[in-house]
Amino acid sequence: MKAVRNFVAGGQKILSRHGHSDSLSLHDLKIVPELPNLSKQMAHMASNPTSSIPGPASLPLIGALWQYLPGGRFYGLDFNESVRRLQSLYGDIVREEIVPGFTVIRLYNPEHFVDVYKAEGDLPTRALFGMLKRYNQLYNQDVQGLLTSQGQAWQQMRREIQQEISSPRAARAYVKNQMSVADEFLERLTGLRDEDGTVTDFLPEIYKYVTEAIGIVCFDGRLGVMDPDNTEGQQFIEAVSTSLTLTQKELSSIPLYKIINTSMFNKYCRAMNTIKNLSEKYMDAAFKRPFEDDDSLNLVQHLTYKSKLSYREVFTFLSEIFFGGIDSTGHCLAFSLHALSRHPEVQEKVYDEIKSLSPRDINNGALDHTSYLRAFLKETLRMYPVAPGLGRTTSKATTIAGYHIPAQTNIVLHYDMAGKNGQYIAEPDSFKPERWLRPNKTNTFPYITVPFGFGPRSCPARRLASQEVSLILIKILQRFEIAESKTDLPIKMQFLNAPAEPLSYTFKERQT
Ligand code: HEM
Repeated sequence: MKAVRNFVAGGQKILSRHGHSDSLSLHDLKIVPELPNLSKQMAHMASNPTSSIPGPASLPLIGALWQYLPGGRFYGLDFNESVRRLQSLYGDIVREEIVPGFTVIRLYNPEHFVDVYKAEGDLPTRALFGMLKRYNQLYNQDVQGLLTSQGQAWQQMRREIQQEISSPRAARAYVKNQMSVADEFLERLTGLRDEDGTVTDFLPEIYKYVTEAIGIVCFDGRLGVMDPDNTEGQQFIEAVSTSLTLTQKELSSIPLYKIINTSMFNKYCRAMNTIKNLSEKYMDAAFKRPFEDDDSLNLVQHLTYKSKLSYREVFTFLSEIFFGGIDSTGHCLAFSLHALSRHPEVQEKVYDEIKSLSPRDINNGALDHTSYLRAFLKETLRMYPVAPGLGRTTSKATTIAGYHIPAQTNIVLHYDMAGKNGQYIAEPDSFKPERWLRPNKTNTFPYITVPFGFGPRSCPARRLASQEVSLILIKILQRFEIAESKTDLPIKMQFLNAPAEPLSYTFKERQT
């Protein structure tokens, strides 16, 4: 903790190389040897067994589920609140046997996150999405995508898609198409405003924008989701929301779906069928689109002809990123709009930076130079993290916080809570994009907030998602000022953090 405090105080230069903090890699672990004698402080505890980590009692058959059942202390509470209470009850490392045989170690201290990063190696494992894995086994020819594959199979797929999805070049290649989606959304937004400029219940509209914006990447064509008569797109968006809500439920249920088709699993399968059927239709059309040479291959054709992935693997990957990109980016955009409306002075600074950017500038890479907008997005994701924590399963035995952690242990890093904890970050309740800009950012411990994850298993679409959100924010702010909001936005956990109330914003036409 002392190391982090020193960072907060701005007194110590821990990093020898300070990369952009939302793209942390193993290089950044150069900080580890310089953390003040943490290992010595903990050495006396180094042999403490995992079973001695504090945590709720585990009962026969139901483990620690009693906490979440009627009469239990967390019954009816939002998941984020339960996790917060576990920290206040047991401290910075908590052991929770959610159901017998499925134990999770919860970490809240960013120094302990570093222990996990250090131990994860080249093939990090994540044990989430059990129902998706089962669905793929039963109904997708046992082909897994990025979310559920592990080890060499995961690495092979990740390597094949990295250049096409994750690189700066890849993101840049989609700017023009995504800008056309942003233009259409702006028109739609303009039409939705009432005479005061207010749009109510805005989240469903946001979902349509992000579906179209990721659809154009995956399937090289317009899906027409923003058309009010397009029911197919609407069914898709609802299926994504259902699948995420059930994935959240899966986390606190006995995993009976592994042996029988429970009603929850059947509901999940129906949602996945809707997602897969629509993806299949779009993918088929993209695959058959005429092309002239290698340079004119679209993503579906490129991955099918030029990578080692089979057509089924390409399909599984694309349908997964298609649905993975809806609520994540949608909520990021919703939280960004909220942050702009809550902090007019920040909105003014973002506007100043982007007001004169033309479509041509943006096509020519201007987004790379919008440092305030990038810092704004990072601060938004600190205050309103879309992914509330990061999951890992250890591949080898390691020591965390002085406890022995065996291989195959499930760990959750609650970076969302660390990012708002005054012990680790200065003025945690202030919305200050400046903290992520030089020279201030060297005073902020880099692992405090990792909204897109870290290392080889981090979000492959980080650039695409930031681009999608940036493009529409630029379009909106160039035309409108978002009126100040006096109230904060409540958040609920639905596997991802989501706005808990309908969104309403007033867009005032700028006087030019
Ligand atoms: C603001 C929007 C987004 C946020 C905050 C976000 C965040 C994350 C996080 C935290 C992870 C886990 C990383 C880790 O464990 O280290 C992740 C993984 C992933 N994300 Fe995103 N994401 C966003 C948008 C997207 C989009 C648009 C797509 C699809 C186009 C996408 C596809 C994925 C996939 C496939 C993975 C799993 C990667 C793997 O296991 O190798 N994400 N994302």
